[in-house]
Amino acid sequence: MAGRLDGKRALIAGGATGIGAATARRFAAEGASVALLDTNMEDAALIAAELTRAGKAIHLFEADMADLGAVATAVDNAAIALAGIDIVFANAAVGTVVVGGTVESIEPERWDLAFDINARGVYAVCRAALPHLRSAGGGSIIITSSSSALTGTSTRPTHAYAATKGALIALTRAMAVTYGPERIRVNAIAPGFVRTRLTNDIVADPELLAAAVASIPLGRYAEPEELAACALFLASDDASFVHGAVLVADGGQTIA
Ligand SMILES: NC(=O)c1ccc[n+]([C@@H]2O[C@H](COP(=O)([O-])OP(=O)(O)OC[C@H]3O[C@@H](n4cnc5c(N)ncnc54)[C@H](O)[C@@H]3O)[C@@H](O)[C@H]2O)c1
Repeated sequence: MAGRLDGKRALIAGGATGIGAATARRFAAEGASVALLDTNMEDAALIAAELTRAGKAIHLFEADMADLGAVATAVDNAAIALAGIDIVFANAAVGTVVVGGTVESIEPERWDLAFDINARGVYAVCRAALPHLRSAGGGSIIITSSSSALTGTSTRPTHAYAATKGALIALTRAMAVTYGPERIRVNAIAPGFVRTRLTNDIVADPELLAAAVASIPLGRYAEPEELAACALFLASDDASFVHGAVLVADGGQTIA
């Protein structure tokens, strides 16, 4: 059966664990060749071994999103390994555990770290990948924002993280206007509560979990595979007229 990404070449920044890893598996299953950019090479190697065993094409590149030069080199090397890039999933981020708190409680160094990785890192990936998408005659950029860009939370404030994710929505819209004429679609995903390393501490604490799930109309958190399905949609031709959009996948939390 034909895959939805047959012949496509996908770069996933932040693909070693969680949503990015689930997306690497899904993109590969749908026929794409995949390159992962990450700092966590141990978990990236596990995904690579799994996909290689299944006969899929996968390449790994180590780069810290906060290092503009390292990201540029990794993206260029990914383009060489894949013989081009059609899809970019800019998904890496640090979350509440590392950069949580309010504007009063977060230290300036942590505030800067949030922006260096989550916002400047996405800039670095897009800046390096755009020439390759242009050479391919177009493509799809998907940026992982967060529902925390859209609503605040009283249970676990994370002002710096929310600000970076809001910046990514603005960046998505601004880039969509600029690059649409070159057939480069740019969209964002805004996940709500997803069970990954970023939320392990909530899932493991019955009280925190009950409070978090209580505000979600669907009454549960998401599995990473459910967000991979969103990324697949935006990457595929099924989303051929979807451009500058923010796909909120939060079980209804934002509208409740
Ligand atoms: N889990 C949630 O509930 C949730 C909710 C909203 C948004 N998100 C967003 O989803 C995306 C994926 O997160 P996840 O939940 O799968 O968590 P995760 O920690 O499993 O995934 C993040 C990935 O980014 C990589 N990464 C982190 N810092 C990096 C750096 N400096 N350089 C390169 N790679 C780096 C990690 O190694 C990992 O592979 C993130 O952008 C996150 O903000 C997650």
